[in-house]
Amino acid sequence: MKLLKDRILRDGKSFEGGILKVDSFINHQMDPILMKSIGVEFVRRFGHLPINKIVTIEASGIAPAIMLGYLLELPVVFIKKAVPKTMENMLTASVYSFTKDKTYDICVSQDFLTPNDRVVFIDDFLANGNAAIGVHQLIEKAGASVLGMGFIIEKSFQKGHELLRELNIPIESLARIKFLGDNRIEFEE
Ligand code: G4P
Ligand code: NA
Ligand code: NA
Repeated sequence: MKLLKDRILRDGKSFEGGILKVDSFINHQMDPILMKSIGVEFVRRFGHLPINKIVTIEASGIAPAIMLGYLLELPVVFIKKAVPKTMENMLTASVYSFTKDKTYDICVSQDFLTPNDRVVFIDDFLANGNAAIGVHQLIEKAGASVLGMGFIIEKSFQKGHELLRELNIPIESLARIKFLGDNRIEFEE
């Protein structure tokens, strides 16, 4: 997606160690016009699938997921990273965070994810893919099925895409980055 790649080159900040900072338009301040274009692109890639719901994980996945849900007129469920005391019919899965080197629980209520649901999962980053795998497990625990996964930015030099390939569903990333160095960003062709 050219618009997105141009924006990453213009406003993204790349750090040694493979971290991309995009907090001026995705992770802190947000550009809703760009998010709308991202939603349109996800429609182009997933609109043909027989889905009835969009699933994402808080916090940064919510914006692109909402845009897709708005355009397809489908509800958006966001999986939570903190377990609320008030949640009914809760399902949980655990996720190992590579960057934080610790395991945390994610959860969703069965009230909003059932065996009738066929979903696409949307998130901002695909890095090591552990969050996506945890989400996939959680959705399957609910008896729902995942028909695809979409990411705004994929860091293809990390192992996430490889890991998700085994799920045998379409994995779509709108910008695929093969190298991040000190002030240098290189995309896959
Ligand atoms: P992973 O195994 O699922 O890939 O997770 P990892 O622990 O590597 O990443 C933890 C968090 O860092 C995730 O957000 C993920 O989206 C984000 N992340 C990974 N690589 C980058 C990067 O290069 N740049 C930026 N800006 N973020 C990155 P989170 O903190 O769990 O969630 P959220 O609240 O921001 O959505
Ligand atoms: Na995220
Ligand atoms: Na993030």
